[in-house]
Order: sequence, then C-alpha cells, then structure tokens
Amino acid sequence: MDRLHLGVNIDHVVTLRQARYRGMLESPNAEPSVLEAALASEEAGADSITVHLRADRRHIQDADVFLLRDKIRTKLNLEMGNTREILEIACRVKPDFVCLVPENREEVTTEGGLDVAGQIEALAATVKTLQAAGARVSMFIDPDTEQVLASAAIKADMIELHTGTFANASHSTRPLETARLREAAVLGNELGLQVNAGHGLTVKNLPDLFAVPHLAELNIGHSIVSRAIFVGLGNAVKEFREVMATYRA
Ligand code: PXP
Repeated sequence: MDRLHLGVNIDHVVTLRQARYRGMLESPNAEPSVLEAALASEEAGADSITVHLRADRRHIQDADVFLLRDKIRTKLNLEMGNTREILEIACRVKPDFVCLVPENREEVTTEGGLDVAGQIEALAATVKTLQAAGARVSMFIDPDTEQVLASAAIKADMIELHTGTFANASHSTRPLETARLREAAVLGNELGLQVNAGHGLTVKNLPDLFAVPHLAELNIGHSIVSRAIFVGLGNAVKEFREVMATYRA
C-alpha cells in the first residue's frame, strides 16, 4: 500500500442526528447530513468511509448505508455483527470492505474483539458469503495469537486489531500493549492477512502505535468527530492525516 490508509468512521455524526430526528428522517430539518460528512471526510483525505449498522440501529440507519454506497467516491467499509439480518443487508449493499465485530446491546461501543476461534464455522460461512458479494472481509480481534490464526484459518482477507486496551493503557502498561499489537501484526502479515487497527485512536496516541509494523489502515471515529466540533470535520481529518504521514511500515 502506498501510505497508511485512513477510514473515517462517521457513526457519531449520525448519533447527533438521531438524538433529535429519530423517526423523522424525512424532515427537511434533519441534520447533520451523513452524506455531507462522508464527502467532507473524503475531500480532506479519507481513504474510506466506515459505518457500523448495529442491530439496534442506534445511529446509522439502513437508508444511510445505501445512500453512502451510492454517493461516496472512495471505499465503503461496513462494520457489522454476524447476524442473518445484517448479512442479508450487506449482500445487497455490496460494501467494498466488511469488518465483522462482536455486538451486544448494552455496550456503549464495541468493547472487545471478536472471538473468531470460538466461532470458526459460523464465521467461515459468513466470510464466504460476503466475499462472494464482492467484499474484502476483516475480523475485528484483540491482539491475540489464537485469534489471528483463526482469522487466517477462516480465510478472512484482513484483521483489524482492537486498539482499545492500548489506547486506555497507562504510561506503565502501554509498552506491554504495544508489544501485543506488534506480535499480532507480525503474525498476521506472515499469514498473508492485511493488518488494520482501530478503536480509541487519537492524534496523541498514534505515535506510540507507530511502533507496530505492517499497518495498512486505521479506522478512527470518536476522536475525529469530537475534534470536528472545534475545528470542522475536514480539518480534523487533516490533523490525523498529518500524523499518519509519519508512519513507516
Ligand atoms: N474499528 C471498529 C471495528 C470499531 O467498532 C470502532 C468503533 O465503532 C472503530 C474502529 C472506531 O473507534 P473510535 O470511534 O474509538 O475511533
């Protein structure tokens, strides 16, 4: 890959819209626009637009996903839990990438990695279905040897290493978390998997993350949308791009 790719997760733009306009999306007042957010991100240097269509539809709605599929100029990365309902929608949307994530209703956000090793058969079937629909498929996993091996075994194209524990680590535990990510990235690369990372990433913790080799793409949402409140979405994306330009794989 030419450079470290940035997937901008715009779920929280829609969180804001839903806070006021849930069930009223036809309203001419419904804002902010998910499409405008995607196009502004692309304009500022996003390589893909990431959205998580959750079973509870707490932010992104089905119509948002179809709209984005139709209108964005870069790649669409759909995050989803492995359920029949969402799989059926994904096969109709035909995203460029799918990232399979664990999902449970009470969580505030995706809290841990997917247990690929514990669901080999079910996930292998879903990977095959999604690949037949034209998507490259990623597993959102903790940086754990068993999960990397299982992701390769089910013929996933990519892994996305869950950086939440790394991001929340204290000064003293960060080196350990970085080492876990390094080990998982090296193994993933050896097994022919594209290695991505995401969750809890900020411009402040990226320099530490860059000790991890073989990273191809980062998916970043919360921090970009938070920063956008103060500097605008385009500038927030550019700030991340600037830091990401220093990565040497
Ligand atoms: N990658 C995956 C698989 C996720 O589930 C999320 C959170 O939706 C992210 C990346 C982005 O995490 P954050 O919003 O903390 O940047």
